[in-house]
Amino acid sequence: MSDNGLFLTLEGIDGAGKSSHLDALEALFRAQGREVVRTREPGGTPLAETLRELILEQLMDPLTESLLVFAARRDHIAQVIEPALARGDVVLCDRFTDATFAYQGAGRGFDQAVLSTLEQWVQAEAGRAAPLQPHITLWFDLAPGIAAQRLAGARVPDKFEAQPVEFFSRVAQGYAARAAADANRFVRIDASQARDQVWQQVETALVARGVLNRGSAR
Ligand code: TMP
Repeated sequence: MSDNGLFLTLEGIDGAGKSSHLDALEALFRAQGREVVRTREPGGTPLAETLRELILEQLMDPLTESLLVFAARRDHIAQVIEPALARGDVVLCDRFTDATFAYQGAGRGFDQAVLSTLEQWVQAEAGRAAPLQPHITLWFDLAPGIAAQRLAGARVPDKFEAQPVEFFSRVAQGYAARAAADANRFVRIDASQARDQVWQQVETALVARGVLNRGSAR
């Protein structure tokens, strides 16, 4: 296993704008000579993408939803994330387990202790002392009311995007709780700012963490 692999995740409520920075992030790491695997959750493998369609479109109880999310994650870790980290690549992942605690846990009110057990099982890896976790999580923090305005009319909403603002208030609280519990891993990005300023925050945080040299990817 290489020590150089970097597992970087992007998180935030729907409409926070995180995904719009993926192109620039990928370009910046590539410009600095890194191989980049760009992926997402739920998804990232053929099986996990099939599960994603079910999770995003079908109504189901929160336990079923949590099990499907973690089943997709298990396949994704085994097929994509672990091999990439072992090669020393940068894994840029649009959402990971923090989203499960925020959406299924805080948003839908599902038992966080059960989610923690699933997290331990699914993210355990032979030869690893602790379950797999991202090295850095960029958390795009935006007030749910503003996120709803940004999303309005942008596209046909999926099951989660169609939820009321109260749901996203709980999801946002879920993210805040995860960030408080793992302050070293999380970087809070103030996503209410203009896009270029948000990008500046992202770049500055990654330079400060020592994983990027300041570049000019855009
Ligand atoms: P995306 O639109 O950012 O790709 O995310 C897909 C949706 O799935 C988003 O509304 C959040 C939701 N989701 C969960 O509910 N639980 C999870 O564990 C993950 C990864 C995503």
